[in-house]
Amino acid sequence: MKLKMMYSFLTSDINIIEKALEETIEAESPLLRQASLHTLQAGGKRIRPVFVLLAGKFGQYDINVMKNAAVALELIHMGSLVHDDVIDDADLRRGQPTVKAKWDSQTAMYTGDFVFALALRLMAKIEKTAAHKILANTMVEVTIGEIQQIKDKYRYNQNLRDYLRRIKRKTALLIAASCQLGAIAADVEESIHKKLYLFGYFVGMSFQITDDILDFTATEKELGKPAGSDLLQGNITAPVLFAMENKAIRQEIEKVHENMPASEMANIISMIKQSGAIEKSVALSDRYLEKALMILESLPQHKAKKALRDIAKFIGRRKF
Ligand code: IPE
Ligand code: IPE
Ligand code: MG
Ligand code: MG
Ligand code: MG
Repeated sequence: MKLKMMYSFLTSDINIIEKALEETIEAESPLLRQASLHTLQAGGKRIRPVFVLLAGKFGQYDINVMKNAAVALELIHMGSLVHDDVIDDADLRRGQPTVKAKWDSQTAMYTGDFVFALALRLMAKIEKTAAHKILANTMVEVTIGEIQQIKDKYRYNQNLRDYLRRIKRKTALLIAASCQLGAIAADVEESIHKKLYLFGYFVGMSFQITDDILDFTATEKELGKPAGSDLLQGNITAPVLFAMENKAIRQEIEKVHENMPASEMANIISMIKQSGAIEKSVALSDRYLEKALMILESLPQHKAKKALRDIAKFIGRRKF
């Protein structure tokens, strides 16, 4: 089943969100407008706004209120991608040149800041202090996660806990916040929005572990973004950590450096793939996915629940 089919009852609201995203970006500065629209129109799965809307279905859902939170969460995600592509020196995103590649890093830094600010402006329409605290804290955590990743580059004496803490910050918390803020925008009671937060957190963990697996197993064409560069850049992700349980492979991995010739790198990657590390990573991702699905069970009956279940499974086990 296609991702969009999983929430087909939201189609008209998603169209409203798409339009609102474009309208929000209609900025005065042509450069910021072009760079932001370029990233927006390149596509993307839009899972964060979808989570915002679905979580809102557990309360008093008013699309005119919900759209502010949904658009804001996608913009924050988008800003973090534009910045991430500078940090990761990536030239391709969503099948298109990144802002960093099409313009330059300076433009990318300001474009990211610009869409962050647009997001905050929209969120201000939601007059609930709790929502703003959650969003601000999430943005702080994402930043810490990305910085931690830079500090942890080529640091081979890290463990799975370090990795999990990092991906919680850089990815899972924003998905958790999407679920929780959608619920809060719709006045969902606390016991339920806390569960939705936890659901988003578990889904987010599964999602990033899968993203890190795909960096080894998928192609640039499939992903619409560079593949196979995490380890070369020193990012020690789940597959690498599992592969390092084998001493001989660990010794090889510890030799990796930025300028390693492609053939040597290919050798190490194939060792990692043959070590069972991918399977272990899939099992880890699945464990988080199972936890997410268990949380869902305890939520009230609603068709949004089935959609959340389908999407969680899709993104936890996605192939692209
Ligand atoms: C990419 O997120 C960054 C990660 C957290 C892995 P998505 O895979 O949701 O990116 P788009 O929005 O679909 O392009
Ligand atoms: C996720 O990390 C990026 C953010 C949370 C901002 P990645 O660096 O793995 O994302 P991709 O693979 O470039 O999409
Ligand atoms: Mg990155
Ligand atoms: Mg990246
Ligand atoms: Mg990645």
